[in-house]
Amino acid sequence: MSIYGDYIKSVIRTVPDWPQPGVNFRDITPLLQNSAAFRKLIDSFVHRYQEMEIDAVAAIDARGFIIGAPLAYELGCSFVPVRKKGKLPFRTISETYTLEYGEAEVELHSDAFREGDRILIVDDLIATGGTMLAAAKLISRSGGHVVETATIIDLPDIGGSEKIREAGFSVFAVCS
Ligand code: PRP
Ligand code: ADE
Repeated sequence: MSIYGDYIKSVIRTVPDWPQPGVNFRDITPLLQNSAAFRKLIDSFVHRYQEMEIDAVAAIDARGFIIGAPLAYELGCSFVPVRKKGKLPFRTISETYTLEYGEAEVELHSDAFREGDRILIVDDLIATGGTMLAAAKLISRSGGHVVETATIIDLPDIGGSEKIREAGFSVFAVCS
């Protein structure tokens, strides 16, 4: 948890029973509307990663892009989109993962970074961890070194972050 964790948490809205009954949806739009909070969020990530020699921020489609782009800009490194299936035009490699119902796939351009590059993966939220773990496996398979997986919100009761750690990847969350 970051020093701004409680503050960031206070500007994230929980919408009950969306998109389906029983889901407490963590809505980051109030955080994005609040320029001071958004700046503190990006600063939290910059502070953590600025000395870690990150070569690329890989951000997960779509909400991960919102934090990944300003973070890559501030760290002075490249930005790599990890996209949902069928969105990237060049040669891709992909990783399939299991959703609560059915399967999903994330893709990466085969020339997105160089062998051995130090990659930070970012997304807005870890629930089951399936999306983040698929991205981490994809980047590892492509020859990248996953320095850490980072998120704004971890929902630890669902067990996703534990699953990612058990798979050998480090996890950082601003709040939970
Ligand atoms: C959400 C969220 C994460 C993922 C987390 O994305 O932004 O990427 O789900 O869930 P998990 O830990 O169970 O995999 P979503 O697929 O809803 O896409 P969006 O960013 O386009 O809204
Ligand atoms: N993605 C998966 N679970 C979510 C949740 N509870 N809130 C926001 N995004 C999510």
